[in-house]
Amino acid sequence: MRNGKRGLRPQKGSLTGEEVREEEIPEAFRTELKITRVIVEMLDLGKFDWNHPKVRGIFGELSKAPFYSFFGKMVARISLRLAELADVQNFLEIGAGKANLTGIMLNQMTQQNKSLPLFVTDAHQIVLENMEKLADEYPEIKLETGLWDITGPPSADLVEKICHPALLYERYTLNYANLESIINISKIADIVVFGDWINYTGQLFAYDEVFKKIGSRPMFYKDIKPILDDCFPNQLIFDKRALDTIGLPTISLLICWR
Ligand SMILES: C[S@@+](CC[C@H](N)C(=O)[O-])C[C@H]1O[C@@H](n2cnc3c(N)ncnc32)[C@H](O)[C@@H]1O
Repeated sequence: MRNGKRGLRPQKGSLTGEEVREEEIPEAFRTELKITRVIVEMLDLGKFDWNHPKVRGIFGELSKAPFYSFFGKMVARISLRLAELADVQNFLEIGAGKANLTGIMLNQMTQQNKSLPLFVTDAHQIVLENMEKLADEYPEIKLETGLWDITGPPSADLVEKICHPALLYERYTLNYANLESIINISKIADIVVFGDWINYTGQLFAYDEVFKKIGSRPMFYKDIKPILDDCFPNQLIFDKRALDTIGLPTISLLICWR
C-alpha cells in the first residue's frame, strides 16, 4: 500500500488503485488488507457505513487478527510493567469500543496474577454495555465503567474515584477526538500509554488516508509534541528506532509521564 502521487482513485487493493495480491502482504497483516479493500469498495458505492454486514463482519475478524491481538497485548503488558515500576494504584481505559482491549488487559492481569482496579470510559453509554460480560468473566478484578467524552475535562465524580498514581492506556481513540483531549487526560492520569497511529513525518501516509475514511482524523506528532511537553514532559516514542532508521512514518505507541 503506497501513498503515490498519481491522484487518489482507490479501486482494488491499494490506496493508489493498484492491485495488491494477498501473497504480497505478510500473513499477520492480511486482515488489514481485507479491511482496506472493504473500505474502498464501500466508498465506491457511496458513504462508509459501520452497520453494513460486510463491515461488521470484517471488523469482527480484525479483533482476532494476529497484528491486532499482538498490538493489544503490547499495550496491556507495557502498561502492567509500568504499573509495577511506578506503583500504580488505578488503571483507566478510554474509548472502549467493542471491549477488545479491555478483554486483553483483564486476561493479561489474570495471567500475571495481578489485580489492579480498572475504570473504563467511553463517550457513549451503549459502548459500555460491552463490559458487562467481561465483568462477569473476571469477578476478581474491580472493573467499573463511566461516561467521559475526552474532548472535555473528566467529571469531578470521575476524578474523585481515581487513586494515584494512575495509568491511562488506550488504543485507536485519540484520533476520533482532538488534540485538546490530551490536556483533559492529563487532569486525571499520571502516566499514559497512547496506542494510536500518530503521523511522525507531517506528510499524510496510507494509514492516515484510510483511517480518514472511517471517521478517524490524522494527528501529527509536531502538533502533539508541544501539548505533551506541557502536560507530560517525559516521553518515550516506542518506535523511535524504526522511525529514524527505516523512515517508518507512523508512531504506534507513545508512553508519557509527568
Ligand atoms: C476504534 S474504537 C476503540 C477500540 C478499542 N480501544 C480497542 O482497542 O479495541 C473508538 C472508541 O472511541 C470512542 N470515542 C470516540 N470519540 C470519543 C470521545 N470524544 N471521547 C471518548 N470516547 C470516544 C468511540 O465511542 C469508540 O468506542
